[in-house]
Amino acid sequence: MDWEPKILVFCCNWCSYAGADLAGIARLQMPTNFRMIKVMCSGRVDPEFILSAFSKGADGVLVSGCHLADCHYIGGNYRTRRRIALLKILIEQYGLNPKRLRLEWISAAEGQKFAQVIREFTEEIKALGPSPFKKKSALAVVEASPTVAKVSTAVAEASPGT
Ligand code: FES
Repeated sequence: MDWEPKILVFCCNWCSYAGADLAGIARLQMPTNFRMIKVMCSGRVDPEFILSAFSKGADGVLVSGCHLADCHYIGGNYRTRRRIALLKILIEQYGLNPKRLRLEWISAAEGQKFAQVIREFTEEIKALGPSPFKKKSALAVVEASPTVAKVSTAVAEASPGT
């Protein structure tokens, strides 16, 4: 049986979730490898949610929010941008390819873009193969590490910026 990746998608309520809904209503073709969690803002996606997803077997995590300057909570997505950049560095240190974590800005009108991103990301994750954390519970150790807890908190508190 062919291996199929498991992808977790966090969508902000105001733009990306509506974009995903539009893709569904328009019946756009996309793989069914993903499961979606709606959050009020991409800035609500705590780094621990992402680490937890990887530790529980996600092969890829996509975080999607409103375009920069369109966040309904003013600066939530600027915070998200910083967090994801830091998290990519963090997960790479523990042997996870940073390409497994992706950030995209998708508006409510961009159903086509949502479907395209899902198609691309699924292909990218398929090319990478199963997450190495599936074989060993390494990320459980990573999550339990006090250093990672500190880094995770620091990432969560990263202030909005460029
Ligand atoms: S409300 Fe969409 S990213 Fe903040």
